[in-house]
Amino acid sequence: DAVFYRVYVPSFTDSDGDGIGDLPGIRDRLGYLELLGVDALCLSPICPSPMVDHGYDVTDPRDVDRRWGSLPAFDALLTEAHAHGLRLVVDLVPHHTSEGRDWFRAALASAPGSSERARYQFRPGRGDGGAAPPNDWPSMFGGPAWTREPVPVSDDADGDDGRREWYLHLFSSAQPDLDWTHADVRADLETTLRFWLERGVDGVRIDVAHGLCPPADLPDLPGDPRLDQDAVHDVHRTIRATVDDYTGRMAVGAVAVAGPERLARYVRPDELHLAVDVVLAHAPFDADAVRKVIERCLTAVGAVGAPATWMLADHDVVRTVSRYGGGPAGLARARAMALVQLALPGPAFVYNGDELGLPDGAVPVEARRDLVWTHAEDSRDGSRVPLPWDDTLPGLGFTAGSSWLPIPDAFTALCAATQLEDTGSTLSLYRQALELRRSHAGFRGGEPEWFDGPLGCFAFRRAGTSLVCVLNASPAPVPLPAGDILLVSGPLEYGLLPPDTAAWL
Ligand code: GLC
Repeated sequence: DAVFYRVYVPSFTDSDGDGIGDLPGIRDRLGYLELLGVDALCLSPICPSPMVDHGYDVTDPRDVDRRWGSLPAFDALLTEAHAHGLRLVVDLVPHHTSEGRDWFRAALASAPGSSERARYQFRPGRGDGGAAPPNDWPSMFGGPAWTREPVPVSDDADGDDGRREWYLHLFSSAQPDLDWTHADVRADLETTLRFWLERGVDGVRIDVAHGLCPPADLPDLPGDPRLDQDAVHDVHRTIRATVDDYTGRMAVGAVAVAGPERLARYVRPDELHLAVDVVLAHAPFDADAVRKVIERCLTAVGAVGAPATWMLADHDVVRTVSRYGGGPAGLARARAMALVQLALPGPAFVYNGDELGLPDGAVPVEARRDLVWTHAEDSRDGSRVPLPWDDTLPGLGFTAGSSWLPIPDAFTALCAATQLEDTGSTLSLYRQALELRRSHAGFRGGEPEWFDGPLGCFAFRRAGTSLVCVLNASPAPVPLPAGDILLVSGPLEYGLLPPDTAAWL
């Protein structure tokens, strides 16, 4: 039932003025995070990376990128996080590597059919001279999921094109997919897991946990054979067995599958401890829709004896304030949903900056850094804009240099330092909510028991306790059920719960 605080490392705090966040920057904020009241930090990937996908393209899974710091800086962060009572989770990316990893460079330098190539998904092309991709799969980032290997420098222009293979990448062409049937690939993850667990991390996040094992014959669509194949569960059993060699550690998968019932398969007793997905984040601000998602998730994971993990936002989706409509209403709804999220049984993931009520930052086209932008209308940069800390400092306390993504003027009014002083701020709301979640017995109660309320509203009680959470997503103020008010996400109106507001009783 921990509250995990998801740190998007590039955007959290920059300690050395290069404009991008780093590990010493996180270390400087541990006091803040302790005050906020979260239980654990879950960092975005920190391994060496050319940053095509800001760390989700890894060249060495067992080191720290110099932009973020070093292994000693990581050890110092871990030790100090523990001293602050905070657990630390690292993000591993076993689905693909960077094109810069030694393995991939060796694969390109070796002939088709070589053992070096077998760690990745190389295939001959289809059609005349192999000029068409091996199948019809699209990449998650747009365009085909295949790239043809470059012409070797040694070849002259009319070299034999037919020899050039294609490699698979569900994400960008700079992120070649590994072949999970290869023993080296499996052994390498185990080495990586042990490397970080031996250093003392409390958990690992497994990126794209549902995408590791496409069928060997890579069949064409439909039916999306790219993802959620049965073979992947064997990998998760191996991960679980390795993590279980260490006391008190856990693995959380980032799982994007067809629904909670499929997700539940990843948290069966011998697989991952937790799985996060975007179902709650994708639900509109509508009481019925939110309730349905909650009930469906609880039923699905309950069937395998696992807790449901709740997440309203991460670095891949639009921030809650903007998603729920922006402006004062968007902020009110985001605050209300935070109380709903934190009243549910099971762990919660809070995305950094959500405790400040940040909206997506408007990033001008010329400043965009997300590679998805090359294929899509918009980018994920808006939710990745650096955090505003202190309006009396240059770069709002994020950086003394030039920020890697521009921080909009609107963030000046949302700095953490100012919000800490203001009892009505979103930061104060989160602090109070997290404090209550820790100290009040109601939060140790059972699953939600729903009761009917006015149209557009819901209320649930945590079974066996007197704790009630009420959400008003209707356009009119509604009376509150009987009970003492513990916390409200916004001011009451003449004793009534206004629209876009939630309360704990
Ligand atoms: C995960 C990450 C996302 C990244 C992708 C490819 O979905 O959350 O940010 O782009 O993996 O590694």
